Amino acid sequence: MSLRHEDASPGQPRLAILISGQGSNMRAFIDACATGKLEARIGVVISNNPQAAGLDVAASAGIPTRVIDHRSYTNRESFDAALVAELSEHAPQLVVLAGFMRILTPVFIQAHAGRLLNIHPSLLPLYPGLNTHQRALDAGDAFAGCTVHFVTQELDGGPPVLQARVPVIHGDSAVTLAARVQEMEHVIYPLAARWFLENRLTLRSDGAYLDDSRLPPSGVAYHPEMR
Ligand code: GRF
Repeated sequence: MSLRHEDASPGQPRLAILISGQGSNMRAFIDACATGKLEARIGVVISNNPQAAGLDVAASAGIPTRVIDHRSYTNRESFDAALVAELSEHAPQLVVLAGFMRILTPVFIQAHAGRLLNIHPSLLPLYPGLNTHQRALDAGDAFAGCTVHFVTQELDGGPPVLQARVPVIHGDSAVTLAARVQEMEHVIYPLAARWFLENRLTLRSDGAYLDDSRLPPSGVAYHPEMR
């Protein structure tokens, strides 16, 4: 996608994206904004990791980038406070965690309650935490997948919003399975963000709601006709 991100209208809703690594999900957001699939502007990309490859991708697309290195902080709370301070400069409508590999404290989560999304590479509530693809393979699962969910204090435990599944194929390794799952991550994450920015998706005290209907414990199942 060759459109530069700054071509987007400055009046559009703003996203902030937090990354730690390659940023392929962030890239999916850049592309979705550039093609108009998502009517939004990425106001800032923040990484805790100065080496994150996604920082260069974002900068090349004309998006402001910031590094807040967690190693410069003595505890999680002070790191989170620095993140909150930086984000408040950009006043995003939605904060997107895209492979952000830090456990967040209430300092961060309460500051963005109800407007904080994550994508997790499993069919939640299966396999919260790490090594999800290997765990699905070890369990002999026929399907794997990914889940967009609201972030709450419970690690990978906030209400699921949208879930896509892919088949596990004979001979899969964690690497081949991860690649198949990531293709779907890049589809469902911008879609869930669009629902949020259109005020169709909300977090309420008893769960996630889409179009005023409470979503089931795994979120809504993705299908290609979904809009
Ligand atoms: C993705 O697999 C996502 O599900 C998980 O972290 C990974 C990030 O990948 N939360 P990328 O940096 O977006 O390529």
